[in-house]
Amino acid sequence: MVKIGIVGAGKICQGPHMGAYDKIDNAEIVAICDINEEKLEVVGKRYPNAKLYKDYREMIDNEKLDAVDICTPNNYHSIVAIYALNKGINVICEKPDAVSVEEAEKMKDAAEASGKTLMVIRNNRYRPTTKFLKEYIKDGKMGEIYAGRCGWIRRRGIPGWGGWFTDKAQSGGGPLIDLGVHIIDLAMYLMGNPRPVTVSGSTYSKFPHTSYSKTDVEDLAMGFIRFDNGACLQIEFSWASNIEYDQMFVELRGEKSGSRMSGIDRKFDIFTEECGTNVTIKPAIDDYNCPPHHEMNIRHFIDVIEGKAEPDFTPEQGVNMVKILEAIYKSAECGHEIALD
Ligand SMILES: NC(=O)c1ccc[n+]([C@@H]2O[C@H](COP(=O)([O-])OP(=O)(O)OC[C@H]3O[C@@H](n4cnc5c(N)ncnc54)[C@H](O)[C@@H]3O)[C@@H](O)[C@H]2O)c1
Repeated sequence: MVKIGIVGAGKICQGPHMGAYDKIDNAEIVAICDINEEKLEVVGKRYPNAKLYKDYREMIDNEKLDAVDICTPNNYHSIVAIYALNKGINVICEKPDAVSVEEAEKMKDAAEASGKTLMVIRNNRYRPTTKFLKEYIKDGKMGEIYAGRCGWIRRRGIPGWGGWFTDKAQSGGGPLIDLGVHIIDLAMYLMGNPRPVTVSGSTYSKFPHTSYSKTDVEDLAMGFIRFDNGACLQIEFSWASNIEYDQMFVELRGEKSGSRMSGIDRKFDIFTEECGTNVTIKPAIDDYNCPPHHEMNIRHFIDVIEGKAEPDFTPEQGVNMVKILEAIYKSAECGHEIALD
């Protein structure tokens, strides 16, 4: 039985994470930590056998854990992950990986030094549409993928006004960090995880005046990423924008075919040519009535630490992701393209 200690018992923990462990037979939540007593009381009733803690260090030091699952606000991800890895404990952590490249690199170094698994949640990789497209691409049916466009744009959808999401010190940023990690990762994963080499971006904060509360994060981020293999990716993420309707999409252009997945209008199309005619393929995949993506991601993590699977996510992919995010903010500030190491 894999013994899990959770840090941060808020919404994502009580929903998708605990929901996943409830269904995974070979994993058990043995300890839960939160700084908020009310949250501890709620989860304590749900898991009466779990030990409850207010300090993650005490939990990690006192319990014989196989893995720590981090569901805190973003600024604590690297701090808790590094502490656990240094104690020889595997880590699964909510996205984003970290709020700075320096912290992401320290997480990667701690994982390498300990020889333990560090996996950051990339739940959208476990959508049936993603799995199908990954196979389709592996089979060579799209040819070389040389360009993409992706985004998650909300007309009005700023999460937790006045809470940690809209406070840069705790979140690291706005929709770029919150939504961008999911969708940029999805595009890069399907493109074969090329290495980002240059990044250009602009960010805007035009909506704070519409609310009672102040924020120091962006509400719109637009950008452009070039990769070492010559491919490029155009990105846009908003929590609030004067647009027609909300969209979440990944569009890829390959030599043999192109594709467009969309999470909100539930469309998934492949664009190709057959017998000299343009053909649109509509794969009959039910992306909604499937096991939750988090559950599949967490099952994969458990398989990896039990030696039953090779990790689908590497800490290096996490560092590359945070490099892109940080470079968009830098580029927005200085007004020109940023070259990555
Ligand atoms: N993968 C996804 O689809 C997805 C969706 C939503 C949120 N998230 C991520 O999950 C994380 C948590 O988001 P949420 O919506 O559950 O937030 P939340 O505010 O509901 O929960 C965070 C919890 O962490 C606790 N906490 C804060 N500091 C702590 C510390 N030092 N030690 C222990 N507990 C601490 C808080 O008291 C709170 O209960 C964030 O990183 C967010 O980006 C991921």
